[in-house]
Amino acid sequence: MKTDELQQHLSPEVAAEIQSVYWYDEIDSTNQEAIRKIRAGELKKALIIADSQKQGSGRRGRKWISPAAAGIYMSLLWPVQGPSAALQGLSLVTALSVKTALQELGINGLKLKWPNDVLFEGSKLAGILLELQSGNWGLCLVIGIGVNACLNPADRAKIDRPVTDIASILGSDVDRKVAIAGILDVLVKNVHRFEVEGFSPYQQEWNHSDCFYNKSVDICHGKVQMTGKSEGVDETGALILQTASGRELITGGEVFPTVRATPLGAAT
Ligand code: BTN
Repeated sequence: MKTDELQQHLSPEVAAEIQSVYWYDEIDSTNQEAIRKIRAGELKKALIIADSQKQGSGRRGRKWISPAAAGIYMSLLWPVQGPSAALQGLSLVTALSVKTALQELGINGLKLKWPNDVLFEGSKLAGILLELQSGNWGLCLVIGIGVNACLNPADRAKIDRPVTDIASILGSDVDRKVAIAGILDVLVKNVHRFEVEGFSPYQQEWNHSDCFYNKSVDICHGKVQMTGKSEGVDETGALILQTASGRELITGGEVFPTVRATPLGAAT
């Protein structure tokens, strides 16, 4: 069974800690399934994986295209003590963990885009959707991770931004079980450290990986739009933006490179 094969790739510590692993051929969304399980009273560390998702969801209401066996679609259930403002930092730590695990598979040159996209040469390779759900017995985090493994041209065409996948980067397919186990090993270790020390031990590493560090960016958050120089993240994971009117700490929204209007008549 796939779950048994996955167990063989996990480190003994992680295998002992994750109490249940569910692997579906097809599901609406692993995050949705995680939320259903929490509502039904499942409050333990568990992992949900699917070969395909019919309604994979991304940040800001987007869809996550999830064709069969073309990506890694996984959600980790992680019970927590209470709602925490520190959760923002955890979503950045998750992105850093995915980056580290993918590097261990031989992918170099990965960058992060605030808050939690993993990019290769400017194209999106992985995304993270963190959700907090309350059940009868307490609160549980759902850490949803999607990694493109081998998208076909028709599926790529459905995505409205530059994307890449592991097979294009490495020139060969990856064993998804090995990749999932690698991600979990790094992630579980980092979540434990985050629970004790917060985001600050990860701040420097995150800033080293930031694709927009010291660059001019536009931030879009609902109807608000700001432009400034991105100065990386602070010790909580908030994005530091130097604007014409001073320093702003950004805790939500999306970052884009500033596109300057081309003056009329100028050569492009
Ligand atoms: C994003 O970058 O917008 C976040 C994408 C998160 C996708 C993953 S795939 C597994 C999990 N289940 C979902 O429906 N979404 C997340």
